[in-house]
Amino acid sequence: MHKRGYYAEFGGAFLPEILNATFDELEAVFEAAKADPDFWPAYQDVMATYSCRATPLTFAANLTRHFGGARIYVKREDLNHTGAHKANNVMGQGLLVKRMGKTRVIAETGAGQHGVATATMAARFGFECTIYMGEVDVERQRPNVFWMERLGATVVPVRNGTRILKDAINEAFRDWVGNMDTTHYVLGTACGPHPFPEMVTYFQSIIGREARRQILEREGRLPKRVYACVGGGSNAMGLFSGFLDDPVELVGVEAGGKGLASGRHAARLCSADASVGVAQGYRTFFLQDSDGQMRETHSISAGLDYVGVSPILANFKQSGRARFEAATDAEVLEALSLTMRREGLIPALESAHAFAQAFKEAPDMTPEDIVIINQSGRGDKDIFTIAEAFEDPAWREFIKHKAEQYDA
Ligand SMILES: Cc1ncc(COP(=O)(O)O)c(C=O)c1O
Repeated sequence: MHKRGYYAEFGGAFLPEILNATFDELEAVFEAAKADPDFWPAYQDVMATYSCRATPLTFAANLTRHFGGARIYVKREDLNHTGAHKANNVMGQGLLVKRMGKTRVIAETGAGQHGVATATMAARFGFECTIYMGEVDVERQRPNVFWMERLGATVVPVRNGTRILKDAINEAFRDWVGNMDTTHYVLGTACGPHPFPEMVTYFQSIIGREARRQILEREGRLPKRVYACVGGGSNAMGLFSGFLDDPVELVGVEAGGKGLASGRHAARLCSADASVGVAQGYRTFFLQDSDGQMRETHSISAGLDYVGVSPILANFKQSGRARFEAATDAEVLEALSLTMRREGLIPALESAHAFAQAFKEAPDMTPEDIVIINQSGRGDKDIFTIAEAFEDPAWREFIKHKAEQYDA
């Protein structure tokens, strides 16, 4: 065992002996990149020329009018290449993989966004690529599986455990232990053993750095609150990073699923169902039973359906630097509908959690107050889930018709 990278009592690196050298190498390359004055500009250039950065900060005039309270802005991470903030992290880690001289990347994915982003990065940089994905998520996110395979990645459906994100992470670690010399594990969120929480936050901080500059340019003042959904915590840490030293309230929104009282949710920071433990190489709040067995989680959004959470956010919860709330599946669908109808924006189901919470609070603020919502991704990937939730009859007919065509 080997411990480092703590945020108060959270974090660390609880690693099997065999991975120590690999983590030492990764940490050294990351530290050297941070210290290299050319690295961040080179990263920004990749993101500007390949992934549409800087992403816009959109004033949501219609939603602002609708709620009659705070001025609502939306940070448009959905406009990244591959449709989500995940691109920021994978392109950054890809540059580190080049520096390490490795030739293969592996990743876990829940919603499939991180898998598609990693497969895209691998195609662009010429790496071999294997993606681990829980079997349940493979079913929920078939379009993303299709794209990963078309991009040249091998997608491995994970049939262990509850067959979702945490099981995919375990499987990716298993692969890594056997292939460390050639392979880098592109962890997709601000979780896992040190240096991943810090490293993923570093790359995602591009969101907050831009958002702070953009709001000051546009309004000449800082927002009162910023909202981001919380799966592992990377888009939240990305946005929050821009406002850590400011008098800005940071609001993280977890998956309330069927409601906190139902036990069918994925709320680790705002429910009484989580407790501190060590798993998957780090210490944080986990949804676990009194024997330390991981509980089943539930969310309408695959990307928030995870038992652990960033140790940096766990520390923010403990210190009070951020506030954590939950939005239920039903609230999320309502927020999504309203955002589509009023603004023509289609947030991912994950991102719609942040919208739902902001909508609960915006009417109680004044027009002098500004809020920023992170639209971490676009909802196209969720078309099957959303169409089913809305019981869209025409969509149902379309699917039936397609199925008949395949049978014919
Ligand atoms: C669009 C989108 N938003 C948010 C998340 C949650 O991840 P994180 O908490 O790391 O931002 C995901 C995860 O797949 C996602 O696809």
